[in-house]
Amino acid sequence: MTPSGTTSTTTARPPVRDTGAQPAWEVLLPAAAAPARRRGRALQEALREAVRSGRLTAGTRLPSSRALAQDLGVSRGLVTEAYEQLTAEGYLRSDRGSGTWVGDAARTGRTATHAAPGPATAPGSGMIADFRPGTPDLSLFPRAAWAAAQRTVLSELPHRALGYPDPRGLPVLRSALASMLSRRRGVVAEPDRLVVCSGVAQAATLLGFVLRARGHRDVGVEDPGSPEHGRLFAATGLDTVWLPLDEEGLCPAPLSRSGTRAVVVTPSHQFPSGIAWSAERRGMLLDWARSVDGYVCEDDYDGDFRYDRAPVGALQGLDPERVVYTGSVSKSLAPGLRLGWMVLPASLVDEVVERKRTMDLGHPALDQAALAHLVTSGGYDRQLRRCQRAYRERRDALLAALDEHFPGTEVTGIAAGLHVIACLPARYGPAQRFLDVAAGVGVALRCLEEYGTARPTDGAVRLVVGYAHLTPATIATGVRRTAEALGTR
Ligand SMILES: Cc1ncc(COP(=O)(O)O)c(C=O)c1O
Repeated sequence: MTPSGTTSTTTARPPVRDTGAQPAWEVLLPAAAAPARRRGRALQEALREAVRSGRLTAGTRLPSSRALAQDLGVSRGLVTEAYEQLTAEGYLRSDRGSGTWVGDAARTGRTATHAAPGPATAPGSGMIADFRPGTPDLSLFPRAAWAAAQRTVLSELPHRALGYPDPRGLPVLRSALASMLSRRRGVVAEPDRLVVCSGVAQAATLLGFVLRARGHRDVGVEDPGSPEHGRLFAATGLDTVWLPLDEEGLCPAPLSRSGTRAVVVTPSHQFPSGIAWSAERRGMLLDWARSVDGYVCEDDYDGDFRYDRAPVGALQGLDPERVVYTGSVSKSLAPGLRLGWMVLPASLVDEVVERKRTMDLGHPALDQAALAHLVTSGGYDRQLRRCQRAYRERRDALLAALDEHFPGTEVTGIAAGLHVIACLPARYGPAQRFLDVAAGVGVALRCLEEYGTARPTDGAVRLVVGYAHLTPATIATGVRRTAEALGTR
């Protein structure tokens, strides 16, 4: 199911403006939480007010009553009733067979003192498309399912569960995650070796402190790679060593020469290049780790999103005693939840758990219980399928727009994740001018060079383009406006 105001708006009739206004379910969610006997009326009032104030703008197609009811966690009858009532009042329009729309009354009904707020999801003022990578579509967060999970755990958890939690995490969540990671990612995951933490960021920090205490001085990071890796490990007192990549993964010779005994890598979908490491390089890395008695920290930051090929299983499955597997809900649900996990070699469990305990006495229990409920009820898998559908559509929109407006562009890393690498021929460069011109028309972009030490001299413009958080319409507009501003058309 697709929440209103996102992907569904592109296929509807009559033509829909990409207003950036809030999706209907988001606007109506507080009303859906009203007590059952007042819920119908609350929904109607909220919908009426949203149209009047412009939070739902004229021309916006509303989701089907079935989809909206599901998003809100209310009965379909309530939504149908609200649609019928507001259609009768002139706020909405219903076209037989093609759905329900916000009508023109939205404009006449809006008063000067009731001006529409700025678009909730729009980037900074004047910005038409922010292609910087790293964020999922936050409007896809399954609010209704999360709210239901929170209600359930609040009513079911015994009082004692509100005491200090086990620093490893709630047993119910560790079991749920262990079986989910083994099923989805091929991770060898025993609940006793799994620690719940605040995202990959805290996992890296915990590991960094433990390695530092064991006498490690540095950690190898991919070049190009995530700037966060270096920053997080540096905060634990470890130096970082850039280790160059080629199209198969980390280059063996510089790794051997580096003298380090720990590396952090993204083998399933390398960040930012988008390559999947070859089987040979995965084996080479594990051989190296054994030979130096070292550790590999696997950051599986977007391992859930695969489009055109069979998922690449986690590296950890090949040697659970050398690989620290890390992941989080930051791409699948929302980074603001700060919920993640690490699966540890037996040799590191006690030290990491003790670090976690002294750092924050354990992760918030209610959030853990809610996530456990979402995973065991099947809601987490449903969310991944829903995001996967939306993100594939957006990736396709990006590929089509680049093909139309920047012919000759080579796009890689398209089979997975939330971003691609677009390598534009030198005639569109130089890169800095390209970025400046795009910024001038409200399009934010990042260059591959910002993520590593390489400075190629071929003049090509290499961009790291995030697309998952943007609607197909915004993607198309952003690419077209950049091309127009550069005068390439
Ligand atoms: C490659 C990579 N790893 C890890 C993180 C941090 O993830 P988390 O939110 O799970 O701490 C990010 C954040 O964008 C990232 O890009």
